[in-house]
Amino acid sequence: MNIGVYPGSFDPLTSGHMDVLRRAAALMDRVVVGVLINTSKTPFFSIEERIAFIKEAIDAEGIKNAEATHFDGLLVAFAQKVGARHIVRGLRAVMDFEYEFSISSMNKRLAPGIDTVYFMAEPEHSYLSASIVREVGGFGGSIDGLVPDVNKSKIIERLS
Ligand code: PNS
Repeated sequence: MNIGVYPGSFDPLTSGHMDVLRRAAALMDRVVVGVLINTSKTPFFSIEERIAFIKEAIDAEGIKNAEATHFDGLLVAFAQKVGARHIVRGLRAVMDFEYEFSISSMNKRLAPGIDTVYFMAEPEHSYLSASIVREVGGFGGSIDGLVPDVNKSKIIERLS
């Protein structure tokens, strides 16, 4: 079975994340979205909210082979625990490359049997990030199309 983990902060899930998840789920047998419990960062949305957004979006799209959970500690340990051979990440523009190159190299060193695979962002998502969603939504701007429709009203309610 070809299992992938899709890790991130997802603070909150964006339409760009969802596009990557949809494409990974089409390629792999099972995709486990892992929301990092990061003690060094204070996320805006709680871990429960972030997981609930992902589960709602997965259900709304009827993606049968994807699920969401949390993890802490090393990503490769989480991947090994769920039996994943692949780590899934999205790549937007050159700005992502350096960071992604360093974490994928470190993960490869820690767990040579696990490969990171990248999905290039669709052009309409190339500028999109969770922090932009928080900023625009927080100032009352439209986040239509930037987050899954099913999550939108809850995100707006929390940001305003
Ligand atoms: O969405 P993000 O915040 O860019 O995701 C970053 C993430 C979760 C992929 C990264 O911070 C991570 O894997 N953290 C777990 C700790 C770890 O494994 N570090 C070693 C690789 S650098």
